[in-house]
Amino acid sequence: MRVLSGIQPTGRPHWGNYFGAIRQYIDLQEDNDGFYFIADLHALTTVREPAQLRENVLNAALDLLALGLDPAKATLFVQSQIPEVSELCWLLMTGTPMGLLERCHAYKDKKEKGLAADAGLFTYPVLMAADILAYDSEIVPVGADQIQHIEVCRDLAGSFHHTFGETFVMPKAKTLDVGAKVPGTDGQKMSKSYNNTLPLFGDVKKIRKQIMRIVTDSRAMEDPKEPEGDHLFELYQLFAGPEEVSAMAEKYCAGGFGYGEIKKAVAEVSEAHFEPARQRRDELEKDIDTVNDILNAGAARAREVAASVLERARSACGIR
Ligand code: TYM
Repeated sequence: MRVLSGIQPTGRPHWGNYFGAIRQYIDLQEDNDGFYFIADLHALTTVREPAQLRENVLNAALDLLALGLDPAKATLFVQSQIPEVSELCWLLMTGTPMGLLERCHAYKDKKEKGLAADAGLFTYPVLMAADILAYDSEIVPVGADQIQHIEVCRDLAGSFHHTFGETFVMPKAKTLDVGAKVPGTDGQKMSKSYNNTLPLFGDVKKIRKQIMRIVTDSRAMEDPKEPEGDHLFELYQLFAGPEEVSAMAEKYCAGGFGYGEIKKAVAEVSEAHFEPARQRRDELEKDIDTVNDILNAGAARAREVAASVLERARSACGIR
């Protein structure tokens, strides 16, 4: 099956990106034809500094490879290296109702906060639909926050089919039960735009400090606490095995337990979990030429697929 997903190079990846999405990319690359890309065109809606964007793209490639994306099994590329996607975006844009985009959360949130939004942000979901449809994608592994965008993609494909006939493969979102909505240090969804992220890579001591500062309620140590719905407990569950998780749940309920204890446990399990990836990343960083070769080979392969899908779409709507 063709599996496709993308990640924006807007800063360092965080636990939400990993447990919601990247972990799925790596699992699914085993038995599928995985296409994974770095969404630099989408990032341009927020990163307005050329050197920074270039650096972020390379960092994102290093991160994905270090975490286990294997170029021998999956195709890794940079979104903008496939110009066919931008043309397909236009073809889709011509049939996109304004109302559909007005309801999309990225745009809506910004507008509700009274912030200026540009046409790039407004049409962001159409470019995302083009990303997905351009590669005949069947499965799109993502976190819960992207489900709405995949619904938009399905709507746009459906209305294109209605007007011009069957052209695209209809994609489906894939989310995980645990990890689809990872909480951040303040208990809200972990997100770069909320400034509540815990990074995968970076200074271990600094990350440990961020973990120790995770916001909790101020109940006394003796009070029993409920593990369900507790964001620290949710974070712990991402890393720990079932036995460790139930032992921790018992401690919560018994009382006489402070949040400092689970914070330390989260720091320890997360450090151990990401240590091998950290080491791989340090190695990869010494060989940027290889990383660039991987991205170029990936783009060549992706472009072939996108060109043939675009040809189908052009001919369906009467473009020479
Ligand atoms: P981005 O870069 O915001 O996030 C990348 C992936 O991480 C997931 N994610 C989370 N999952 C669980 N809990 C969280 N707190 C959390 N935060 C982020 C996201 O759901 C996503 O899967 N628009 C996309 C990039 C994109 C794309 C595409 C994705 C562009 N074109 C086509 C799929 C298909 C985005 O901004 O992801």
